[in-house]
Amino acid sequence: MPLLDVRDLRRAFYGVTALDGVNLAVRRGTITGLIGPNGAGKTTLFNCVSGLIPPDAGRVIFDGVDVTGWPAHRMTARGLVRTFQIARGFPRLSVLENLVLYGARQPGETLWRAVARPPSVARRERELRHRAFDVAERLNLTPLLDMPASDLSGGQKKLLELGRALMTEPRLIMLDEPIAGVNPTLAARLAEHLRALRDAGITFLVIEHHLDVIARLCDPVIVMAEGRHLAEGTFAQVAADERVQAAYLGRRAATA
Ligand SMILES: Nc1ncnc2c1ncn2[C@@H]1O[C@H](COP(=O)(O)OP(=O)(O)O)[C@@H](O)[C@H]1O
Ligand SMILES: [Mg+2]
Repeated sequence: MPLLDVRDLRRAFYGVTALDGVNLAVRRGTITGLIGPNGAGKTTLFNCVSGLIPPDAGRVIFDGVDVTGWPAHRMTARGLVRTFQIARGFPRLSVLENLVLYGARQPGETLWRAVARPPSVARRERELRHRAFDVAERLNLTPLLDMPASDLSGGQKKLLELGRALMTEPRLIMLDEPIAGVNPTLAARLAEHLRALRDAGITFLVIEHHLDVIARLCDPVIVMAEGRHLAEGTFAQVAADERVQAAYLGRRAATA
């Protein structure tokens, strides 16, 4: 059974079809790549699967459970989390505070508990800080823990974004362009982190425009075009696929 199974997923915006019946599966223990020309529907797929917006039709099955239309916080509690192309978070808070706050956004964290601060809340805060130190250690962010997030470089922000995702103890992380805009040294380090996390049992679905990154990091690679699953295989296989080449070229010709 795949970890994520997307069946005939559909979504339109004001009559414009973004997802036209997507079928795809993500196998456990893979770093699966998701590529395709601009407008193919990759980000919309992420949004519908992770609970940011509901699909119009189709099903999302995560670890055997039908989670179609679940809101993002419920998906996260189940073990599915996504990151954003543009790093989010709280720029004026420190790296440590950003990690702790993200971990805290879990079900059961009701307002009255936060206000009343029973002992269990203090315990939970200690746990979250421990986890934040662990995550920082794993990502070599420890020296930056006290720095305001706004002072981080572009690449360090991508690491923090990954760290925030890890705070939720995910089984599947969906990354939207984790490498874009990062210098080559940090890009290589990010790729190393993803491999290490994969080896530790986390599955990844990665959108990335840098095809060299996809080629080195991802297996298998799924190609989307015009709101559908077009092809799948190793990077070499999909790169050699004439339909894939036509989809990329067609788009370039259309926008030229
Ligand atoms: N919030 C939205 N409102 C209107 N149209 C949207 C919205 N999000 C995506 N689209 C449209 O859906 C299609 C797929 O976009 P997107 O999922 O961003 O593709 P990709 O990430 O592959 O570039 C595009 O035609 C885009 O303009
Ligand atoms: Mg996109």
